[in-house]
Formats: sequence, C-alpha cells, structure tokens
Amino acid sequence: MRMVLLGPPNSGKGTQAVRLAKRYGIPAISTGDMFRQAVRARTPVGRTAKEYMDQGLLVPDDVTIEAVKERLRKPDIRDGFILDGFPRSLEQATALTAILQEAEVRLDVVLSLEVPEDLLVKRAIGRRVCKCGATYHVTNDPPKVEGKCDTCGQQLFHRRDDTAEVVAERLKTYVEKTEPVKEYYRRQGILLELDGSGSIEHSSGVVDRALEMLS
Ligand code: AP5
Repeated sequence: MRMVLLGPPNSGKGTQAVRLAKRYGIPAISTGDMFRQAVRARTPVGRTAKEYMDQGLLVPDDVTIEAVKERLRKPDIRDGFILDGFPRSLEQATALTAILQEAEVRLDVVLSLEVPEDLLVKRAIGRRVCKCGATYHVTNDPPKVEGKCDTCGQQLFHRRDDTAEVVAERLKTYVEKTEPVKEYYRRQGILLELDGSGSIEHSSGVVDRALEMLS
C-alpha cells in the first residue's frame, strides 16, 4: 500500500499514519517529524526548517523534496509507505510523481481528512507530544500518567507551532499551497475526502472503511 495523508494542521494525519503503519507493517513517513528531528540535531536542514516552521510557513520545496527523495531510497519502503504531510505544494506533488515513476511504482490512494477550523484549534491547544514521536491530547487521547509518554516515559511537551497565532498561519498556508494538491490527485482519480471531525475512533473507522473499499 502506497498512501498519502493530506489534511489541515491537527486534522489527525499523524494519529492515523501511526495506526495504519502498524496495521499494514509499512513505515509512516512524516516530513514534520523529519524536520523536527533535524532541528533538534541542529543540522543545516534543521536550521533552515526552523525558520519556516516557527512562522507556520512551508519549508522550501527544494529542501523538502530532497529530504523525501533520500528517505524513499531506504529499503524499508519496499512493501509500501504512508506519507504524512507530504506533498504539500503542487511542486512537491509533481516531484513525488517523478520519484515514483522512476521507481516504476504508483500511489494507491490519497486520503484527505476534512475537519472544521474550530476543531483544529482545539486539537492544537490540547496536543502534547514526545521526543520519541508519540502524540497525545489532554482530553481526546491522554497518556496513562499525566505529562509522561506511555511508550518511553519522557516528559511530554506542547509543540511551539501549536499556539493560536501559528496555527492560524499554518491554516492559511494549507489553504493557499496544499488545497491545490487535492485537485491534482482528484484529477488522477485517487483522492478520497473523508470526515475527520469525529472522535479518534470515529476517524479510524472512516479511514478503515475507505481502505477496505479499495481492496
Ligand atoms: P507537521 O508536523 O506535518 O504539521 P501539520 O501538517 O500541521 O500536522 P500536525 O502534525 O499539526 O497534525 P496532524 O494532522 O498530524 O494531527 P495529529 O494526529 O497530531 O508540519 C509542521 C511544519 O513542518 C509545517 O508547518 C511546515 O513548516 C513543515 N513541513 C512539514 N511538512 C512539510 C512539507 N511537506 N513541505 C514544507 N514544509 C513542511 O492530531 C492533532 C491532535 O488532535 C493530537 O493531540 C491528537 O491526539 C488529536 N486528534 C487526532 N485525531 C483526532 C480526532 N479524530 N478527534 C479528536 N482529537 C484528535
């Protein structure tokens, strides 16, 4: 299964990607996570990425495409992958098409999680994350011990781009740059727009049913 997950910030892409990766035994590749790791490691890519991420803007296409190209060269994607948050611009979408054509494979499906804006802000304000990559929500998906990661026990934190101001900017960027990507895939006949406004369990059910219809 080769899949792309689209959707506005905090729509639940990461939550679904991690779950589906376990279910299908394929890697979930999040460009956001890749950039956050690069920021922590203070690499040159991390320094560039931080500048844009802090403002809620997209990291430049050339940097992002190169990072994904490199990631898709790893052997663990042989049986498929889930791209979470990539592509996010038309340039990234056409680059992905070229990368996959070169590898003589194609995307099976692009799922777009649709969630109204007021819910996105609530999800951002309550989100807590761990350095290990795990994600929680203070009310919708709390950890077993408050403030601690269930997986590794580290202290959870609030992402610096989850403030109301930066979320508003990320949403603006999404409408401007990423909405056209949906049209790109709609024309290819592989876009499925799904309701992501219910609970995590509800969204999971919606996604699973959509994927079952494909097989
Ligand atoms: P990225 O990390 O990809 O952020 P995003 O797209 O804004 O998505 P999020 O991670 O915020 O949310 P999500 O949809 O994964 O939701 P989650 O499952 O966590 O990117 C960050 C930045 O990196 C970008 O702004 C950009 O600067 C840069 N970047 C990344 N990719 C790039 C690219 N391709 N090109 C250029 N720049 C790029 O859920 C959110 C919260 O809600 C959690 O607390 C969760 O527990 C909860 N939740 C999830 N689902 C539900 C549900 N159904 N009901 C209730 N709560 C839910």
